[in-house]
Amino acid sequence: MNVKEAIEKRKSVRNYDSRPLPDETIGKLREFMEEAESPFGGKWQLALQYEGDEFDPSFSPGTYGVIHGAKTYFLVGHDPEDINAALSAGYAMEDVVVKATMMKLGTCWLGGTFRKSAFTAAENFEEDVKLLEVVAVGQAAKRSGMMNSLMRTMAGSSRRKPVEELFFETQPCRYLGVGNRWRRPLELMRWAPSSNNSQPWRAIVHGDRVDFFTAREGDMAYIDMGIGLRHFSLGANDAGLHGEFRKMESVPTPDDWVYVTSFFRDGYDD
Ligand SMILES: Cc1cc2nc3c(=O)[nH]c(=O)nc-3n(C[C@H](O)[C@H](O)[C@H](O)COP(=O)(O)O)c2cc1C
Repeated sequence: MNVKEAIEKRKSVRNYDSRPLPDETIGKLREFMEEAESPFGGKWQLALQYEGDEFDPSFSPGTYGVIHGAKTYFLVGHDPEDINAALSAGYAMEDVVVKATMMKLGTCWLGGTFRKSAFTAAENFEEDVKLLEVVAVGQAAKRSGMMNSLMRTMAGSSRRKPVEELFFETQPCRYLGVGNRWRRPLELMRWAPSSNNSQPWRAIVHGDRVDFFTAREGDMAYIDMGIGLRHFSLGANDAGLHGEFRKMESVPTPDDWVYVTSFFRDGYDD
């Protein structure tokens, strides 16, 4: 499975096969976590906790009945006062999620429905880094489960906003053309997971530069933005559109949106 297929196939899994993951799989997940990087800075950290590890051999975290059978979780920590740290944590963790999907594992981000006290590996986080999200990972069970259907219906998880509501060219009332080179990476951003499926990401393309905005602030908006930006950069890389994220001093910003960052294609000078 390549990156594009993984992003298109991924959906949140809430019902897992309760057998522990093989050591080899845990080793791979740890490798993905250690490789994960972010260009956005801030204080953030990831950790892996599973049944039988050194933190708590009887690890059995509470998720208010939302997740069934998962024995392995990533812990996502970041400085709650810093939006760059939230962008970074979302960006880095989503890289692991996409790689886990390529290994045919299921995942589910949790921002609300988990009991922090069970995730003891977070005690090793640095100062100012707080456990704010976790991601369940494992083999999906054969049946997706009632709770999963309920959560998916409540969040409208199968749907995404149309491209015409999210991505624009030159100005926020001009639709992004079907042939535009950024369309593919932006489509992959569109399929990213977000809290309550809120899809806060918006983008305006200016030739070789793409400006990104959030249509929502607070709570998990910047984690969601980090997740979407990782899908975008994986898609851009896949399409041979190499470049880097850089925040500009100021860009024209539509009412109700907040400017987050820009992606500059290599060799392009603003
Ligand atoms: C930051 C974040 C937090 C989330 N928190 C929860 C949660 O607390 N409980 C839950 O059941 N799903 C949670 N989700 C999953 C979303 O509801 C899901 O990603 C969205 O509805 C889109 O569905 P999909 O992931 O199947 O594409 C969260 C997702 C993200 C990205």
